[in-house]
Amino acid sequence: MDFDKVINRLDTHSLKWDMMESLFGVSPKNGISMWVADMDFPPPEAVTGAVKTMLANQVMGYYGDDRSYKQAIINWMSKRHGWQVEPEWIFTTHGLVNAFALCIQTFTEKNDGVIIFTPVYHMFAKTIKAAERQVISSELVNNNGRYEMDLEALEASLTGNETMMLFCSPHNPSGRVWTAQELKSVAEFCQKHNLLLVSDEIHHDLVFGGNQHTIMSLAAPEHSARTIILTAATKTFNLAASLTGNVIIADPALRAQYAKSAAGLGIAGNAFGMNMVEAAYKHGEKWLEECVAYIDGNRKIFDEALNQIPGVVSMKLDSTYLAWVDFSGTGMSREEIAKRVQIKAEIAASPGLQYSKETGLFLRFNLACSRKVVIEATERLKLAFADLQ
Ligand SMILES: Cc1ncc(COP(=O)(O)O)c(C=O)c1O
Repeated sequence: MDFDKVINRLDTHSLKWDMMESLFGVSPKNGISMWVADMDFPPPEAVTGAVKTMLANQVMGYYGDDRSYKQAIINWMSKRHGWQVEPEWIFTTHGLVNAFALCIQTFTEKNDGVIIFTPVYHMFAKTIKAAERQVISSELVNNNGRYEMDLEALEASLTGNETMMLFCSPHNPSGRVWTAQELKSVAEFCQKHNLLLVSDEIHHDLVFGGNQHTIMSLAAPEHSARTIILTAATKTFNLAASLTGNVIIADPALRAQYAKSAAGLGIAGNAFGMNMVEAAYKHGEKWLEECVAYIDGNRKIFDEALNQIPGVVSMKLDSTYLAWVDFSGTGMSREEIAKRVQIKAEIAASPGLQYSKETGLFLRFNLACSRKVVIEATERLKLAFADLQ
């Protein structure tokens, strides 16, 4: 795959490119879009091939017989993550936001507390609030550029009203891959406080630098009766348009409860999405390895350049393609930082305030694009903050 190739995504209903002017005031004429988490790369050829086959078949009817689809997921989980999944554990959803929203609706009651570790993917809090549950935020501790959980502080703050923890592993926005020991502590915490543990592992294939992602159920198999794992091929292979994800539930009682809720809402898989996912899992491994190596290269270039700007720190990623950059050392206000990035550098990046009220001076930059675009972005950022040199 030629990851260097720049593909013009304008006028394709691309959220990332076609909305950047209205959302960030950055004109696509000269702007660089580095916000929402999709890649500017085409997926593995087998994926486009699967869609072409659907088109060649002409008739766009209902999807049926999901055995090969589930088997492709099972094989991937076994080979890439050492996790043995049974077909009946897998439920298909319209993406992972839909997946955790369904879990919240199914397993908690109105006004229950749902714990999240902030900063975190903004749709966690948004979905919890929309369901009229309470967001219980536990702020991660930035220990020399590396986030850590403070379970003691979280424990001290509990009221007994909490019934679920929604966990992000690997972590978006910092890219942190949690160690097996950290995951075990989280599962034990949930056991101790009678919380259902929902682990969103959408970024789990995009890991580099010798880091090892551990599926929550493998880190704490003794707690799998209260654990639900959310996975998808959509971040791995850049298939956001397929809006297809999995809720994987090993425990039969939880499964029955979930099945009832999903049936009540008429949740069914989408044929385009399921065919894309199956093709990607079956034939996309080489593409993924090349992609991860490419992103790792982009990450190094970006970090090296950004970390030279006085007061700016780009957190070292273990995974994901989302650089998490702390501008607080510049002494500038949030407005001034945004002005320099959006107006001077003409770059659209995700605002840190989305992820936590404590991270207003951070921005998240999407590095899944051609290397020349990353280099251009770093040049522009260096220029935008040149007075600090
Ligand atoms: C942790 C996490 N979960 C879910 C999603 C979105 O999933 P989907 O597009 O399948 O709804 C994202 C997207 O960035 C994410 O970072």
